[in-house]
Amino acid sequence: MYADSDAEFSGKRSSNYQDALRIYPEAWHHDLRLMHDMLQPRPGESIVEVGAGTGYFSREIVGSVGTNGRLDIVDPAPEQTQGLAEILSRNVRIHHQAAEDLDLAFKGFDAVWSRGAIHHVSDKTRAFERFAAHTKPGGRLVITDIFAGTSLARYFDSFIARSCLTGHEVSFLSQEFATTLCGLTGWNRPAFYDNTARWRFQDCQHLGRFLRLLFSARPQYSDEDCLEGVRDFLTVQEMDGSCTLLWPMTTLVAHRTAAH
Ligand SMILES: C[S@@+](CC[C@H](N)C(=O)[O-])C[C@H]1O[C@@H](n2cnc3c(N)ncnc32)[C@H](O)[C@@H]1O
Repeated sequence: MYADSDAEFSGKRSSNYQDALRIYPEAWHHDLRLMHDMLQPRPGESIVEVGAGTGYFSREIVGSVGTNGRLDIVDPAPEQTQGLAEILSRNVRIHHQAAEDLDLAFKGFDAVWSRGAIHHVSDKTRAFERFAAHTKPGGRLVITDIFAGTSLARYFDSFIARSCLTGHEVSFLSQEFATTLCGLTGWNRPAFYDNTARWRFQDCQHLGRFLRLLFSARPQYSDEDCLEGVRDFLTVQEMDGSCTLLWPMTTLVAHRTAAH
């Protein structure tokens, strides 16, 4: 069980994450497009978003499912979701639960969506079972995350794990293990897509600042240190007066089998 008092995403870790997205709301526009390509949220659909954090994607999904659809926002850390009060309504709710303990009254979701959260889930078998228990046959499981063996996983295990205030002890899914998990828990064989998001900034100093906030670097790490840290692992493109970080995520898409 995830106790609020020792939630990783609380205090400074959470307020810095919120600041990063408040100061640079446009940096992730391309991620929204990638979410639409993969999840394809449609009017009237019911979607559960796991590890929604500050709700960057929730706001967009709410607009897509419309008033005839529903969105259930799930995150174990109350501080992460505190800014989402204004989108709550009859068909948009927040639940402070961990993926492993997912237990909602409604069990007929069209899709489960999660971005950047599953590597924080310690019992992934249990989580995938809970996702299946909440999804109708044929429903979608769409997980965009950092996968094992990628340059992004190396960046996290190296630079982020040593610079982040809370450390970053996580476990990244491999495509092999994710395929096994789907088979064990009521999902068909997943497809995997490379989804490299383009994080755009006016210049590279802003990128360094964004990364320092998003990953809550310890005080001894400057914006420049965070910029150098990312350059060691990922591609940063500088052209036409802008700075773009290529952020190589992977998306898993599976469908709920009819019987399990
Ligand atoms: C890196 S943030 C991603 C937030 C959001 N999806 C985004 O893309 O901005 C990871 C989120 O996963 C949540 N989280 C941590 N452990 C979790 C668990 N066991 N189950 C579900 N969510 C979890 C954290 O509270 C945090 O909000």
